[in-house]
Amino acid sequence: MISKYSEELRNTAKAMVAEGKGILAMDESNGTCNKRFEKLGIAATVENRRTYRELILTAPDLGKYISGAILYDETIRQSTANGVSFVKVMQDSGMIPGIKVDTGAKDLVLRNNEKVTEGLDGLRDRIAEYYKMGARFAKWRAVITIGEGIPSDGCIEANAHGLARYAALCQHGGLVPIVEPEVLIDGNHTIERCYEVTEKTLHEVFRQLAVQNVAYDQMILKPSMVISGADCAVQANVEQVATETIRCLLNTVPPAVPGIAFLSGGQTKEKSSAHLNYMNANFRSQFPWRVTFSYARAIQQPALDYWRGNTANVAEAQKLLVQRAKLNSAASGGTYSEEMEKQPALV
Ligand code: 13P
Repeated sequence: MISKYSEELRNTAKAMVAEGKGILAMDESNGTCNKRFEKLGIAATVENRRTYRELILTAPDLGKYISGAILYDETIRQSTANGVSFVKVMQDSGMIPGIKVDTGAKDLVLRNNEKVTEGLDGLRDRIAEYYKMGARFAKWRAVITIGEGIPSDGCIEANAHGLARYAALCQHGGLVPIVEPEVLIDGNHTIERCYEVTEKTLHEVFRQLAVQNVAYDQMILKPSMVISGADCAVQANVEQVATETIRCLLNTVPPAVPGIAFLSGGQTKEKSSAHLNYMNANFRSQFPWRVTFSYARAIQQPALDYWRGNTANVAEAQKLLVQRAKLNSAASGGTYSEEMEKQPALV
């Protein structure tokens, strides 16, 4: 059976990965957002989270580079200080509202240091509510950890099954599912080991998606890059990361998928742009899909660092945010260069 929303889903998915655009992840849970605030001495309050999200969504020209933004449940219900709902702000600036629907990665029981993402209970009703509120796509993040003897088959299978059940419910309810299996950068593993785990995970994810009748042309994949572990003594260079990532994706991702939008996963902002750029500058002719970004930290961090909860810093913080969106937009077309990092955002 196909979803009654099939055509709308296909069009939304295409729009999410339109040429020159990427997706902004700003769906940090209250806990994660508070942790990032606390590091900078910003009080962890509802009002500060609202103000920060208003800073992001009202940044001038953001919609030139960002097709859609992923919100958190608290954020999708909030409005600007002037009383305009965030959903309306986004619609007016041409950005599609998206929503994180998983309820977090929890310990996978009877296993060592592995996680499984929860959130299927009640999901169909939450999807219906979010669709009514104006959301047109959703996100669910699964976490795969590389370590001694892990990931286990049980962990990969449980997470892939969860992603597939979520994706099917989304398509049934009119939201394009962003399917996000993140292989964590944490650890001292090599890029070769990361390749092996990422390939195995993606094979299983697409197998489970097929088992649940998920339409590949009505979803977006949000993977991590194939990269050296953060603590690995040998760090692969930009060319290796881009080459291995694309080799892995060509081996695993069906051509019907309209787009791949990477997470940044703790890479520096410059590396996040350089890796994406290398892939598009060198391998584009081989892609059956669009290859772009869905970064959170690699887009937001300079703006958050500058803002620090101070109203006087809002305009400059917005420029820093839009600057990173613009650089990543260039990277999604293969036209980013290190030189561009030197252009001042503060004018
Ligand atoms: P990062 O780009 O900071 O990894 O966040 C992307 C994301 O949405 C993680 O779920």
